[in-house]
Amino acid sequence: MSEKESLLTAQIIDNRRVAPAHFLMTVRLPLSFATPFPGQFVMIRNDECDGPLLARPLSVYGFQRQQDHAVMDLLYRVAGRGTSLFSRMMPGEELCFFGPLGKGFSVPTGVKRVLLVAGGVGVAPLIFLLHKGLLPAHGKGIIETIFYLGARTAELLTGLERLCGSCDLKICTDDGSRGYHGPVTGLLKHDIGGFDAGDTVIYACGPKPMVRAMGNLLQDAPIPCQVSLEERMACGLGACLGCAVAVRTGEGKTDYRRVCKDGPVFDLRDIVFTSPAGP
Ligand SMILES: Cc1cc2nc3c(=O)[nH]c(=O)nc-3n(C[C@H](O)[C@H](O)[C@H](O)COP(=O)(O)OP(=O)(O)OC[C@H]3O[C@@H](n4cnc5c(N)ncnc54)[C@H](O)[C@@H]3O)c2cc1C
Ligand code: FES
Repeated sequence: MSEKESLLTAQIIDNRRVAPAHFLMTVRLPLSFATPFPGQFVMIRNDECDGPLLARPLSVYGFQRQQDHAVMDLLYRVAGRGTSLFSRMMPGEELCFFGPLGKGFSVPTGVKRVLLVAGGVGVAPLIFLLHKGLLPAHGKGIIETIFYLGARTAELLTGLERLCGSCDLKICTDDGSRGYHGPVTGLLKHDIGGFDAGDTVIYACGPKPMVRAMGNLLQDAPIPCQVSLEERMACGLGACLGCAVAVRTGEGKTDYRRVCKDGPVFDLRDIVFTSPAGP
């Protein structure tokens, strides 16, 4: 763990259901907690720090410093044992917490158009990126910021209240219950011909099928795309190699990178999709 990462106890301020099986947790952290960069994540667990349950990685959804403490928002979907335990925790209870971890998104110069592409809870790091003030602002070179937000159904769309007014929002649902009828990559495929690869950047986060579809789509439209991968993790610290993904190296060979330490944000063009270890 570097000096910028801390292992500490966080106290739950709020933990409420925002959609079926989706929760927004707000925690109180000591001021010493390093300010996270968009795309970074934290590892949390809800037992004693030496308990049997492995910590679970969650992206930072929001972060603010107050006078004597910091506040972090986490948006999570109940996927299994760990997240189910989190969903039953009450305000005042404590979590074992470490982070911020990994390498986040970067913002290239000369960008005129920003596309954010989120599937499900992949919305969390992208909303943090949008609100952190790192993206070039409108009137300072940026022509448009478009947020493609996808979910299986309208009731599973999360983060809408944080997006209104801050970008051009394009909603997609797999069942057509709201917005475009189909996957978020379907609408992006429809629009992509109108974007100039020379001045556009894409930020993406979502489930593996979405990431694969983005990879296929951008083979023909070479717009730079930074993607945050949500691999399964064990240690979260780069020690166990349990989160390795196959990537192309500069020499055209395939190598492996740890999502927790070398990512979770990667250049989409570097990811090898054919490997069983790929996303
Ligand atoms: C860097 C990073 C950031 C993440 N950010 C978020 C976030 O902001 N919000 C959120 O809801 N989730 C996020 N995830 C995914 C989250 O960590 C997993 O859903 C969680 O660890 C599952 O733990 P569990 O004990 O509830 O489920 P488990 O009992 O461990 O698994 C239940 C089911 O989920 C599958 N699963 C477990 N981990 C993952 C995973 N990483 N990706 C896909 N399927 C998985 C298992 O194969 C199994 O089918 C992130 C993952 C990473 C690596
Ligand atoms: S989770 Fe252990 S190396 Fe990444």
